[in-house]
Order: sequence, then structure tokens, then C-alpha cells
Amino acid sequence: MTDADRYTANWARREDLPALAQLAARTFPLACPPHIAAKDIAEFVAQNLSEQAFATYLADPTRHLWLLRSVTEPIRLVGYAMSRTAPVDDPQLQEVLPQGQLYELNKFYLDAAAHHSGAAAILMKHILEHWRTTDTDLCWLGVSQFNTRAIRFYRKHGFTPSGTRVFQVGPTTNDDFILTQHK
Ligand SMILES: CC(C)(COP(=O)(O)OP(=O)(O)OC[C@H]1O[C@@H](n2cnc3c(N)ncnc32)[C@H](O)[C@@H]1OP(=O)(O)O)[C@@H](O)C(=O)NCCC(=O)NCCS
Repeated sequence: MTDADRYTANWARREDLPALAQLAARTFPLACPPHIAAKDIAEFVAQNLSEQAFATYLADPTRHLWLLRSVTEPIRLVGYAMSRTAPVDDPQLQEVLPQGQLYELNKFYLDAAAHHSGAAAILMKHILEHWRTTDTDLCWLGVSQFNTRAIRFYRKHGFTPSGTRVFQVGPTTNDDFILTQHK
């Protein structure tokens, strides 16, 4: 059985949101640098990754919410991602990214048990295929400069560094790389 047979990526639906919020709460800390306090991570999760927050994302036509499931027993949610087709609204990025509609890979998270299994590549393939169907030339994302595993993963999938930004989790500032790829 190939990786492609083991996992399937689909759009999220309303009924997926409770399990999605739980997955998001489990996986967000995996991307955080060690100097971020647990209470700030918890507050960020409560504000941005709750079931209600995902319901808002799902209702937003500029956002695209993806789920990755294993299709062998036990069938379970193993990852999710969110992309967004929109102009950049962060003033820090005015110099880094072009104006106009861009495709942002805004969230990309897998459960630890699915890391290094080929699952992440399947989810990424679906997203990049979706991006190619849009009329946006540039796909971009922000990733913590501490997150060497994710940076390596994104570089394997065609992203290259284009700049930096500061990302706030509670009172803590984090240095992110901005990675991009063109069609
Ligand atoms: C980022 C993520 C989706 C990548 O998926 P993955 O299955 O781990 O990725 P892969 O194994 O295909 O690629 C990661 C690469 O980093 C390497 N790697 C793993 N741990 C590493 C580490 N601590 N330091 C440097 N490289 C590391 C792996 O060996 C692999 O390289 P290789 O293919 O040359 O062997 C997944 O790790 C994840 O969900 N992490 C937690 C959430 C997160 O950080 N999301 C990104 C937010 S921007």
C-alpha cells in the first residue's frame, strides 16, 4: 500500500469542527519555539483555534480548510491545513511580498504520530494542486525560524526564503521566515 492509499485529504465540513479543534490544540504546540510560555500557547489556541474560530474560518470564502485522514483502521484525523486567497494585510510584509491577490498557506499541522510518514506530503500535494487552479501566481507562508523540521519540509515542496517577519504569541515575539514559490 502506498502513502497515497493510506491517507485522504478533503475539505472540512461543519461536523468535522469538534475533532478539528482538538487536533489543532494538540498540534499547535509542536510548532512553537521553546521560549513561548505554556499559558500563552493556551491563550492563542483558545482565541484562534477553537471550534468557534474554525466555524468562522469555514464560513469565510477567502479561506480553504483541509483535513487529512488515515483511511486504514483506525480511521482518524491526522492533519489539517488552511490556505487563504487574499492580499497581504500585514504592514510588515508590504516590502516582502507583492501587492494583489496571493495564496497564503496559513496553517499546516499533523499529529506527531504521522510525522515523517509521507502523510504531510499528501496534504501538501492537494493544497499546491488547489493553488495551481487559482489565478494567484505566488504562494507564501510564515514559519518560525526555530522550526527547522517544517522549514526543511517546505523547502522539499518548492518553497524558498523571501524575507522575515515578527509573529506574536501573547507577549512573546517570534522571528519567522517568509517562504514563497511561484507557479
Ligand atoms: C511540519 C510538518 C507538517 C512536516 O511533516 P513531516 O512528516 O514531519 O515532514 P517530512 O518528514 O516529510 O520532512 C521533514 C524533514 O525534516 C527533517 N527533520 C525532522 N526533524 C528535524 C529536526 N529536528 N531538525 C531538522 N530537520 C528535521 C526530516 O528528517 C525530514 O527531512 P528528510 O525528508 O530529508 O529526512 C510536521 O512535522 C508537523 O506537523 N509539525 C508540527 C506542526 C508544525 O510545525 N507545522 C508547521 C507550522 S508553520
